[in-house]
Amino acid sequence: MALPDDFLQELRIRNDITNVISGYVNLKRRGRNMVGLCPFHGEKTASFTVYPETESFYCFGCGVGGDVVSFIRRIENLDYIDAVKLLAQRSGMEMPEDSYDDSLQKLRLRIYEANREAARFFFSRLNLPTGKSGLDYLHGRQLSDRTIRSFGLGFAPDSWSDLTDHLTEKGFKPDELLQANLSTKTKNGGLIDRFRNRVMFPIIDVRGNVIAFGGRIMTDEKPKYLNTSDTLVFKKSNNLFALNRAKNSKSDKLILCEGYMDVIALHQAGFDFAIATLGTALTSEQAVIIKRYTDTVVICYDADEAGQKATARAIEILRREGLDIRVLTVPNGKDPDEYIKHHGANGYIKFKQLLEATGNDLEYRLRKLKESHNVETPDGKIKFMTEAAKLLSQLDNQIERDVYAGRLCDEMEVDKTAFKNQISKYVRSRFKREKTDEFNRIRKQITSETERFGDRNNGKVRAVKAEEALIAYLMLNPDMVRSVRSKLPPEKMITEFNRKVYSVITQRILEGRTAAITDISGEFSVEENSRIASLLANNNVETNSPQSCREFVDIILEEGEKRSADEIAKESPEEIQAYFDKLREQQKKKK
Ligand code: CTP
Ligand code: MN
Repeated sequence: MALPDDFLQELRIRNDITNVISGYVNLKRRGRNMVGLCPFHGEKTASFTVYPETESFYCFGCGVGGDVVSFIRRIENLDYIDAVKLLAQRSGMEMPEDSYDDSLQKLRLRIYEANREAARFFFSRLNLPTGKSGLDYLHGRQLSDRTIRSFGLGFAPDSWSDLTDHLTEKGFKPDELLQANLSTKTKNGGLIDRFRNRVMFPIIDVRGNVIAFGGRIMTDEKPKYLNTSDTLVFKKSNNLFALNRAKNSKSDKLILCEGYMDVIALHQAGFDFAIATLGTALTSEQAVIIKRYTDTVVICYDADEAGQKATARAIEILRREGLDIRVLTVPNGKDPDEYIKHHGANGYIKFKQLLEATGNDLEYRLRKLKESHNVETPDGKIKFMTEAAKLLSQLDNQIERDVYAGRLCDEMEVDKTAFKNQISKYVRSRFKREKTDEFNRIRKQITSETERFGDRNNGKVRAVKAEEALIAYLMLNPDMVRSVRSKLPPEKMITEFNRKVYSVITQRILEGRTAAITDISGEFSVEENSRIASLLANNNVETNSPQSCREFVDIILEEGEKRSADEIAKESPEEIQAYFDKLREQQKKKK
């Protein structure tokens, strides 16, 4: 995956890391660096740092880091080449043609194409005799032709291989169809369609690619929905149904539902800001994505027990991303789709009333809490108020706390001062706890790097630290590479990861090329890029000099010798003798 050096260099100059990240994170200057709240985990004090000097970023809270391309890979959920493309586009640069090994990327494109062609195929079946049952089913669920077209709904015929045959005729290879999860293999090696006799819901990403399908059976058989498994272009925990449409809505909110049909019914009724998870509980990745498009989410899950449990979990996850949460409960145990259908032409007005009457997540939780206590008895009332005080103490805003406390005290006819005091007590202990938690997390993060290598007294930790400091130093002082590399060939590096990084960097520099983090980030996974950024962030290159650089080399060589001593002990007497001779030689030199 080698893009030309001059291209990468221009890319990185035109896409200044501080500038790019500022588009996603509110950064403030701290010394020569910039800090902000990490977009990859929920936090209240800034531990996300951008280092203009090394053109890297690193979060001391969650350990994520890298260069500008790694940042885009993570935040936009793209692979390396697509992230580079996005940055190239952003800065008006042309991608170089065919200069990188793009077999994986080509396969991805083929999967997108196969999916698009499959969506066309499913849609067109609706108007053929084979698809009549599908069209009837969708009409039976009150979907208009316009809705069917705009969501691109379709039908997978009741046949073994209609789609597989069609796509094969269009030039798609068996491997591409399997990789797209549109076909599956039979025992004797033939291909059959994965979706058969189901109405089809295409899942489209925010860039407009068809990335997967959900297929609903038209009877009571199970599974009710069959979905595309994760593929090279689809991860269900990272995508949301209909976000491609909802992101264009004029509304400043998003409605989060459980099912495809709920979303489609809502859009048809005029609520074009509804989205859904894809058959799994809401994940924190999805919450992070939601936060990119809105500050307010209306949770609108089914009214049954499972839906209410899922609501409680979703509240926790969404809160962590700092979203304002409202909870809409559809009356009479219905789901949103059934509710709208039930009200026919009044569906819009009725649902709008529900939407306007939604309480925030706190009101919802207070209501649930009250339902679970018998507040008619003094004992039940005390227990409820104690739990309620704990709940209110989770609010950061004092005025908000007071408003709810006042309201609740009026309603329950209890004394306000005592109740507010109780809340304040919980608030204080919460702040204390959060501070400790954050402190512990940061400390753990910093020590985990070294602990990974085992016992602190083990010389290996010393060597690893020296390796990391050396790499950080060389990345900013390439002129030192030649002399260092002649004393320390890559195979002498003790840890495998550092060996790889060292080898990539020194090799490049010896070839007269540059080796900033952006030059090499394409050769590493996002996780590996985090480790490189961590090594840059944790080694203050300012305080190091050519002298300390030589010391690092000595430490690595020395510890390497010790290590091989353990290995040699298991070997022949002659080798052991040779080893001791060498050690003695070294001792002499030192004196
Ligand atoms: N789901 C799934 N696999 C299943 C059942 C459900 O992936 N076997 C997912 C689907 O995305 C579905 C959502 O979970 O849309 C909600 O499921 P459920 O409430 O059972 O279905 P409804 O949305 O009510 O679907 P319908 O109205 O078609 O019965
Ligand atoms: Mn339903």
